[in-house]
Amino acid sequence: MGNDWKAIEAKYYMQAVARQPIVLVKGEGTRVWDDEGNEYLDFTSGWAVNNVGHSNPSVADAVNEQARTLLQTSNQFYTVPQLKLAQILVDNSCMDRVFFGNSGAEANEGAVKLARKYGKLNRGGAYEVITAWNSFHGRTLAMTSATGKPHAKEDPFQPFPEGFVTVDYDDIDAVKDATTDRTSAVILEPVQGEGGVNIPSKEYLKDVREWCDKQGLLLIFDEVQTGLGRLGTLFGYQSFEVEPDVMTLAKGLGGGVPIGAFLAKESASVLEPKGEHGSTFGGNALTCAAAYASTRYILDNDLSHNSNVMGQRLMKGLMELERDCEPVTTVRGMGLLCAVEFSEDVSAQVISSCNESGLLLNMVKPNAIRLMPPLTVNASEVDEGLERLKVGISKVFEG
Ligand SMILES: Cc1ncc(COP(=O)(O)O)c(C=O)c1O
Repeated sequence: MGNDWKAIEAKYYMQAVARQPIVLVKGEGTRVWDDEGNEYLDFTSGWAVNNVGHSNPSVADAVNEQARTLLQTSNQFYTVPQLKLAQILVDNSCMDRVFFGNSGAEANEGAVKLARKYGKLNRGGAYEVITAWNSFHGRTLAMTSATGKPHAKEDPFQPFPEGFVTVDYDDIDAVKDATTDRTSAVILEPVQGEGGVNIPSKEYLKDVREWCDKQGLLLIFDEVQTGLGRLGTLFGYQSFEVEPDVMTLAKGLGGGVPIGAFLAKESASVLEPKGEHGSTFGGNALTCAAAYASTRYILDNDLSHNSNVMGQRLMKGLMELERDCEPVTTVRGMGLLCAVEFSEDVSAQVISSCNESGLLLNMVKPNAIRLMPPLTVNASEVDEGLERLKVGISKVFEG
């Protein structure tokens, strides 16, 4: 098989992943290169991970230095990178405490454990969490259950853990109607990413906040995708001026290394006594050093602002596309999380056509693609991306 990586994948890897026929070998800033030397603008950012750009020198230096100093100790001991990261996140958010894990799903699991404990202590044993249709919270069994997609009876992973009630997104009455004595929390994405970049009204999140206060429920924001500048503010909750009690992060937190976190206000930090929650790798020195460098970079370079400005530029171009290209029915976006919807199920064709024009995109629905470039993207890269998108789309509809 030599270096035929696609054949090696087909033979050795679990065939559970849908991939583009591209072997990526190098990345720098907004661009990546494949093993044949082709260059692409990466508007997928490793699924909203590479907020500080590919191979960011600050992150690379931090990883290099930490790898040569201390890689892993377990949480039996204190480590400096973990505590520096905890401090920078808490000092720059409305939260008081943090716990580190390895992924978004694990962060959400921690948040739900916290909500159940909170319900036991404060709401007579309440344990249910209200979630929204079209949400995405991860792939563990519980997070599959929390994710707002219908679970068919014949789903091979049945039975799913109970304790989640799903309601319409952007509908406060649905949240109110679903609230019972069993409810302990509501978990929402400030903007639904995987569900198609669905942006709720500001009133909705404010009304949910008010309802949670009235009922004594925890409000959890899953900011795994929206956090760390993606929506044009450091955290998505700031764009909506609504503070959650608990917030989960992952993706853009590590600057490319795998890390997740859940943060809580003091009143919601109920995971005690010591030992009630844990993780071998969570808060690992290497990943925390990378995440600290990445977060520092986002703050020092005001990437949230760049996300806002470049997001507006990208949206302006996408709106022109909507005006000029009939099959484009809707475009929507906030910061650098944008989607283009088509009148037909052509996402797969548009993505492979754009691969050829040198732009990497992500499918969120059979008829919708998502654009989420690194937050370091500049104006000429946005314009170039729009140009490549137009070429890719026009080939699909003219061909
Ligand atoms: C909002 C949200 N929550 C959770 C997850 C799961 O994160 P991970 O794949 O790191 O477990 C994702 C992943 O796409 C996500 O977008």
